[in-house]
Amino acid sequence: MIFLGILGSGSGSNMQAIMDAIASEQLNARIAIVLSDNPDAYILERAAQNGIPTRIIDCGDYRTRFPEEAQRETARQLKEAGVELVCLAGFMRLVKAPLLEAFPSRILNIHPSLLPAYPGMMAWEQAVTDGATESGCTVHLVDEGMDTGPILAQARVPVLPDDTAATLHQRIQVEEHRLYPETIANHAATLEPQLPPEGGR
Ligand code: GRF
Repeated sequence: MIFLGILGSGSGSNMQAIMDAIASEQLNARIAIVLSDNPDAYILERAAQNGIPTRIIDCGDYRTRFPEEAQRETARQLKEAGVELVCLAGFMRLVKAPLLEAFPSRILNIHPSLLPAYPGMMAWEQAVTDGATESGCTVHLVDEGMDTGPILAQARVPVLPDDTAATLHQRIQVEEHRLYPETIANHAATLEPQLPPEGGR
């Protein structure tokens, strides 16, 4: 059993897929805490409805930056909750040293393209605008760059001639919801167990 911490800024459909995989025993894990930089994010409501503790990450007036102090506090909260593996699920800020150093090789992200193609925002829209014939999703380890860390797994989907950004994103998300829990399980199996936090679990 591995303790997961989830960071998300939006709807949390990937977190839902992770919860479903845990419920159906495809993933031997527990979501220990969910953190969001967006107090209105639906991911927080989903977590609360499922009895999962939530916290808001205070990024002050910064709209896109993830201030160092906020990263330190996030790392502290994750550690306090006993988190062993951090999963970014639609988290819209770049993670840097304070958090990366606290969880080396233990932060994963899901990105809606076949990286290294189309890193960054709205990757599905980039694919449609570009006339790509194939897209998909990637689960990767997070490093200092934007969607640049080592790739763990990918799934492909076709881009159809009449696709809009929205229909392509929908098709990609179906694959995300399958690929992310599966890759979390595979990656978790490669990690050394960590000592429980002070005071046990
Ligand atoms: C997903 O498409 C994911 O690939 C990207 O952000 C979106 C999050 O969706 N990083 P959700 O919040 O999990 O529904």
